Amino acid sequence: MNSLRLDFTYGLEAGNALRKLTEQQDGSAVAALQERIAKAYRTLLDGTGAGNDFLGWVRLPEQISEAETEAMIAKAEEFKKKSELFVCIGIGGSYLGTRAVTEALKPQLAAAMPGCPAIVYAGHQLGQDYMNELLELLDKHDYTLCVISKSGTTTEPAIAFRLLRNHLEKKYGKEEARQRIVAITDRAKGALRTLATEEGYTTYVVPDNIGGRYSVLSPVGLFPLAVAGVDIKALVAGAAQMQARLITPHLDWASNIAAQYALFRQIQYVEKGKKVELLVNFEPRFYYLSEWWKQLYGESEGKQGKGLFPSNAGFTTDLHSLGQYIQEGERLFFESVLSLEKQHTSIIIPQEKRNLDGMNFVAGKEMAYVNQKAEEGTLMAHSEQGNVPVLRIVVPQLTALHIGELIYFFEFACGLSGYSMDVNPFDQPGVEAYKQNMFRLLGK
Ligand code: PA5
Repeated sequence: MNSLRLDFTYGLEAGNALRKLTEQQDGSAVAALQERIAKAYRTLLDGTGAGNDFLGWVRLPEQISEAETEAMIAKAEEFKKKSELFVCIGIGGSYLGTRAVTEALKPQLAAAMPGCPAIVYAGHQLGQDYMNELLELLDKHDYTLCVISKSGTTTEPAIAFRLLRNHLEKKYGKEEARQRIVAITDRAKGALRTLATEEGYTTYVVPDNIGGRYSVLSPVGLFPLAVAGVDIKALVAGAAQMQARLITPHLDWASNIAAQYALFRQIQYVEKGKKVELLVNFEPRFYYLSEWWKQLYGESEGKQGKGLFPSNAGFTTDLHSLGQYIQEGERLFFESVLSLEKQHTSIIIPQEKRNLDGMNFVAGKEMAYVNQKAEEGTLMAHSEQGNVPVLRIVVPQLTALHIGELIYFFEFACGLSGYSMDVNPFDQPGVEAYKQNMFRLLGK
């Protein structure tokens, strides 16, 4: 099937690992966990759990209207024509989705997709030198910008927007600057909404019932992604396909890969005592998807003294740094592997007569074949010798459609995981602690 799939064959005993995961009806601990996931599934879909006013993402892919998407694409086309650079201002869930999808789909060594402005990010940290470099860069290039903040009051993007708005107005004059700004925020409240209304910016709404880290398929991600040149219709279509696959009248364990993933994680956490989930990949374009995933799971599960710590690694690069620890260090983690099935291009390693580098053993093979064998060899080493449980999440190809599937899959599994651990997967009360101290220190 040309769709996202899971492979449980590493890390569990030989045989039909999936059946072992899902068909144990013997009252064992696994069956109890399975029941918790099934209960979480009903809670999520019936909207009866904690944070149930933040479930707008669950049916979002099928609800996004053609008209809404077309309007964003039209505005994006306007921005593309007038900018070499596009500044995306936001932090956490307000920028990670855009970065994850763009970095997965754009050519890696090019700044941007053909004919599109390069995206530069701001407001995702408070680095002063970074901001000065950005302002200098923007002196030299035509640009447009998009500021994203659901609350409209987050410090990092608010400071960045103030600096960049001043720069933009100085460079183009107030009227043209207005045409170069899009604000994405709450429909009514927050300082950004007040500012955008006052200044007459084009705005898109972050729906009330969608939290930041579940918002990439709303205007939060769709507008900037359209400017970056991503086929946002295909992205949404992929998510809608996954939604149809995961939301069925009754939980179907055989086909519901989100429930399977949630169960696998719970087995590792509750039964095997693992504390860390390491999301690894053998494809550099997955780096920011892992960063997005880290925020999604970290903010959703890490509360009340509970939760798997989400961490990530990029192989084979990190096999030369973390590889030793993974193989022989403390057994506190399991691995979920983002595994890419098919590359877009091909390179054959050439044969050399003299073979001075000793590499003729791979001559005639594709680089992707070598990478695949590296993946197989690594997962064997980790799961068999290293006793690290391993699950593969197989992505057929890096296309907008499959990324849409992957995003929805992770979101749905995250909702299930949170509920099965009895936490509210849609709030993030702990994020306030640093802010309160910072505000006090700044005399707010
Ligand atoms: O997932 C979340 O809700 C957070 O990570 C927010 O996205 C992040 O804190 C930014 O918030 P805001 O969009 O209100 O500026």
